[in-house]
Amino acid sequence: MPGLVVVGAQWGDEGKGKVTDLLAERADVVIRYQGGNNAGHTIVRDGEVFKFHLIPSGILYPGKLCLIGNGVVVDPKVITDEIAGLHTRGIDTSGLKISANAHLIMPYHRLLDHAGELRLGEQQIGTTRRGIGPCYADKAARLGIRMQDLLDEKILKQKIYAALEPKRLVLRPYAKDPELDLHAMTEEYRTLGHRLEPYIADTARIVWDSLDAGRLVIFEGAQGTLLDIDHGTYPFVTSSNPVAGAACVGAGVGPRSIDEVWGVAKAYTTRVGSGPFPSELESELADRIREAGGEFGTTTGRPRRIGWLDLVALRYAIRLNGLTGLVITKLDALTGIDPLGVAVRYLGPDQVSFDDFPYHQSIVHKATAEIVELPGWHESLSDARSLEDLPPQARDYLELIGDRLGVPVVLVGVGPGRDEVIRTGAGDHLVPEVAPAPVPQR
Ligand code: IMP
Repeated sequence: MPGLVVVGAQWGDEGKGKVTDLLAERADVVIRYQGGNNAGHTIVRDGEVFKFHLIPSGILYPGKLCLIGNGVVVDPKVITDEIAGLHTRGIDTSGLKISANAHLIMPYHRLLDHAGELRLGEQQIGTTRRGIGPCYADKAARLGIRMQDLLDEKILKQKIYAALEPKRLVLRPYAKDPELDLHAMTEEYRTLGHRLEPYIADTARIVWDSLDAGRLVIFEGAQGTLLDIDHGTYPFVTSSNPVAGAACVGAGVGPRSIDEVWGVAKAYTTRVGSGPFPSELESELADRIREAGGEFGTTTGRPRRIGWLDLVALRYAIRLNGLTGLVITKLDALTGIDPLGVAVRYLGPDQVSFDDFPYHQSIVHKATAEIVELPGWHESLSDARSLEDLPPQARDYLELIGDRLGVPVVLVGVGPGRDEVIRTGAGDHLVPEVAPAPVPQR
């Protein structure tokens, strides 16, 4: 005890990495429970920029255990590169452990992802093309290859063969791709296995022991609630379950191990890829917020779609995840936007209004948002460290969010640096005092 889940409350890219980084100072263990290198987060530490796709951000603290749970799909090349990148910068990675049961993204998964999107043409999902969907599909079809398989050449070769055979037809256009040669692939992945062997572990057991010892464990989600394959805007979703409940499955703990669930939401909304987005802005206002918030994908560099804060979607996220606290990030990016809009309900076909997120995709696709306007502010927020330091309009904005959603706002982000954050008091038992960042272990 305690276990805290950090989950994206929107369509991903909410700034979960920064929140985990902040919490990781007090936590003993950080474990990622789903997704793969479709995620990406940037941590700014003492002016140094770190970009991660797989490794939990706690790795910058000496002695933290940073785990990649069984629910994550791991591209062995990507994780090997991330480890090497940290070593080059003198950072110790001995705290990193990868579940032996985590599934591997193979070269054919990347090719299938690519081919699938091409086939869909205009209807494409807009995936990150990292092979995530095909990898989870193989996992469900029991054709997946797991971290532990890297350690046994015979098993690895057999499993690659079994996984490749049923795909031959679809992969025919890539038949000459050297990456698909069974022998070469086995060799390459065996070599990666040698390099990754010290990191392969029984991560669930590490989490059980840590919880038993009373340590703080953070379960770090990737993507966001509305990209959840069961509860999101299907089929424009990712292929895993980012919602908090999946932390149990993807890390290997029971529901009673989760004490708190913090949802991270931007002060506005963004989405990458296709799919419905009722509060979307397509005006010059969207460009201004995109620029102010640096809204370009960490993984693909794509410009993110921008919209007003969507309280209908957030209420849905609160129920689905059982949120106990809300973290509002990037409030500073709204400086100078006056008036501000907040989506309070959806209007569906025939002007039917929806207070709750509609379950039917045709309604969500056609829904527009009813917007309430609030006065904006023009002052820079980056020096604010308490609610009192904020201009009254920014306080009113936060108050409206807290009041309408009924979940306390625990933290507010006012800039990219780890100290550029306001602690509201509601999450003080878990948020450390903002102290100078520890120097990464060299
Ligand atoms: P996939 O996860 O690569 O299969 O992509 C499926 C959908 O999820 C696409 O719309 C992606 O843009 C979106 N997506 C995947 N990962 C992220 C993320 O980390 N942030 C935001 N969107 C994401």
